[in-house]
Amino acid sequence: MAPYRIATIEGDGIGPEVTKAAITVLAEACGAGTLAFERLEGGAAHYVRSGHVLPEDTFAGCRDADAILHGAAGLPGVVYPDGTEVGNDLHLRLRFRLDLYANVRPVKLLPGVLSPLRAFEGGGIDYVIVRENTEGLYASRGAGVVLRDEIASDSLVVTRKGTERVARFAFELAAKRRGAPRDGQRRVTVCDKANILRSYAFFRRICDEVHAGYPDVAIDYAYADAITVHMLKRPDSYDVIVAENMVGDIISDLGAATVGGMGIAPSGEIGDAHALFQGAHGSAPDIAGQNVASPVATLLSGVMMLRWLAERKSDTALGQAADRIEAAVATVLAERRAVPRDLGGHASCTEVAEAVRRALA
Ligand code: IPM
Ligand code: MN
Repeated sequence: MAPYRIATIEGDGIGPEVTKAAITVLAEACGAGTLAFERLEGGAAHYVRSGHVLPEDTFAGCRDADAILHGAAGLPGVVYPDGTEVGNDLHLRLRFRLDLYANVRPVKLLPGVLSPLRAFEGGGIDYVIVRENTEGLYASRGAGVVLRDEIASDSLVVTRKGTERVARFAFELAAKRRGAPRDGQRRVTVCDKANILRSYAFFRRICDEVHAGYPDVAIDYAYADAITVHMLKRPDSYDVIVAENMVGDIISDLGAATVGGMGIAPSGEIGDAHALFQGAHGSAPDIAGQNVASPVATLLSGVMMLRWLAERKSDTALGQAADRIEAAVATVLAERRAVPRDLGGHASCTEVAEAVRRALA
């Protein structure tokens, strides 16, 4: 069988090192000839060299691939005249053009990883944030208005279609999960500011409508400000959280912090025809090129990629490879065989990847 084509954009900062580390593990777990990683250019440094953050051939490579694996993109000094960062456009344009509408961000505390929330241990926090990824406040990217150097505005866009599909995604996901650790209840929490803005009240109403088709999944609601408290005080009551784009962006970083930090937080941006996988972290230019970044977030994103591909292609072997990588990461961390710096250890990026690769057996 022809290998699956994985469009691979290493990007900026720590992007190349974490991507290379993930590739060694993915290739080993799936066996030779299963995945073909096609390297593509893009990101802030590429923009400086060429004037293109997402070259057209990179876009075409992503569009035509079976899945997209991305390291990280963005460099703080590389900005447009309006002050916004160039590197983010690699990602944002792929989201919009490939319609990657559900940004899936698991928040899971693994055994052996110390949470700053001392009441919780491995398994005690296990929920998924489903962030709407193509509209919300970020739909306004590049189109905000600055008037007379006095007034600036960006518009928050919420559509029925965009909300219905992301809500359906969240309920479908909850239906397949085992519920919240606290009470075993399958639940979708709608996170918004419906108390303040009509667009959010609309978002909530559409989620209610979609919920009618899922009697076995409970629905509840949390305002975006209040949820930051609940995510620290009772994270075990969450199962799936669905949120508007910017709200989801913000709370997914907070969620990551409760389970070990950005270096362990994976993400999958999923549409009906395409999907992109990357760690939820940024390009961390301050530690780039030193082999000290954690590859765990990219590795776990690779696990999400294999599961997504396994389902789409009805290929159970890919699902098994995903299970083996996930188990190997858990073993390496729980037995502290190779602990990256951000989780309190000293292992380098390549040492963590190598330990995971060895644990695959
Ligand atoms: C993320 C990042 C992005 C965002 C960038 C890279 C476009 O912070 O994936 O969460 O702001 O959505
Ligand atoms: Mn973010």
